[in-house]
Amino acid sequence: TPAGLWDQYGRRATDMRLSLTDKCNLRCTYCMPAEGLDWLSKQAVMTRDEIVRIVRIGVTALGVRELRLTGGEPLVRADLADIISGIRSEHPDLPISMTTNGVGLDKKAAALKAAGLTRINVSLDSLHEETFTKLTRRPFLDKVLAGVDAAWAAGLGPVKLNAVLMRGINDTESPELLAWALGRGYELRFIEQMPLDADHGWTRRNMITAAEIRGLLSRDFVLSSDPRERDGAPAERFEVRRRDAASGDASGPVLGTVGIIASVTEPFCSDCRRTRITAEGKIMSCLFSREEFDLLGLLRSGATDAELAGRWQDAMWIKPKAHGMDHTGLGAADFVQPDRSMSAIGG
Ligand code: GTP
Ligand code: 5AD
Ligand code: SF4
Repeated sequence: TPAGLWDQYGRRATDMRLSLTDKCNLRCTYCMPAEGLDWLSKQAVMTRDEIVRIVRIGVTALGVRELRLTGGEPLVRADLADIISGIRSEHPDLPISMTTNGVGLDKKAAALKAAGLTRINVSLDSLHEETFTKLTRRPFLDKVLAGVDAAWAAGLGPVKLNAVLMRGINDTESPELLAWALGRGYELRFIEQMPLDADHGWTRRNMITAAEIRGLLSRDFVLSSDPRERDGAPAERFEVRRRDAASGDASGPVLGTVGIIASVTEPFCSDCRRTRITAEGKIMSCLFSREEFDLLGLLRSGATDAELAGRWQDAMWIKPKAHGMDHTGLGAADFVQPDRSMSAIGG
């Protein structure tokens, strides 16, 4: 059996999240500033061949069982399909998923499926043009909706949708968003906003909590615990039925599933199975880890696979026990927001 990516608390990372670029074509307020960030140079970012090698080491030497491609926005990489087919040709059974904002996906979904992509998650915070544009600072709602449908049509399902709820902007739209997703057979997940925005504008008070989300949905829907194993997933899943307005009881069949990702108020760190590689080839053991280990620099200096695997294990061994922001008020007193925004980590 291969050596694993163990940490000192007994967790083993088998789920690898690899960022392909720090660039993005949206400017979601909970992630990026309006003007964008200082993008990495092309030279600083992992090449296709470097990515293929790093994935090979993860899978063959370290027990990685699932790969997720992230960004910034992974679709902005011109060689995306080539990266996927390079990985797929070495790992015929590896689940390879991607988290994307969906812009341009309508044109690329079929080619990505052909290259070997397994499934896709798309960020979708609103179905209203004006709200979408306010949140993402770009008028691309129609493109995203076309992308979601194209992903499903190309066989990249089950399609999951991610919505970060923002107080006073899209929070009250949540039942409508859920009804829409259920009608199309997509699995929607509502996400608590984490303090990972470049503007450092996150406040505990403005974050819509999981408890609030369940409250918002309960006017129209009855949620009951999904019997499937959670299996270390960030999302807690619920089966959804309509609430009968007159009786207040559940009525009719199960319409589908909704997920709630309560990273802040109901953290799941003790069950975390994730290891991350940033676009410039740094190992991050956690979204909130302060130490970064330079895997790409070591690779470019001529290191062997065994040396690279060793550094990866060292980085994961000191994975933080928990992010520590799950306290009252403005998070825990000792919680410090990381320097990197979500886009520079990879979601
Ligand atoms: P699947 O359910 O397997 O499709 O994947 P996923 O939900 O893990 O992937 P996705 O990239 O769609 O992530 C959804 C959200 O989960 C992200 O936006 C984050 O808010 C949250 N998330 C993912 N990984 C972590 C993590 O390591 N820690 C915390 N706190 N949240 C995470
Ligand atoms: N808090 C929670 N989720 C976030 N995402 C981006 N920024 C944040 C944040 N501050 C989500 C996006 C996308 C995924 C990659 O991360 O909505 O679905
Ligand atoms: Fe781009 Fe994703 Fe950040 Fe939005 S959340 S700006 S889509 S990287």
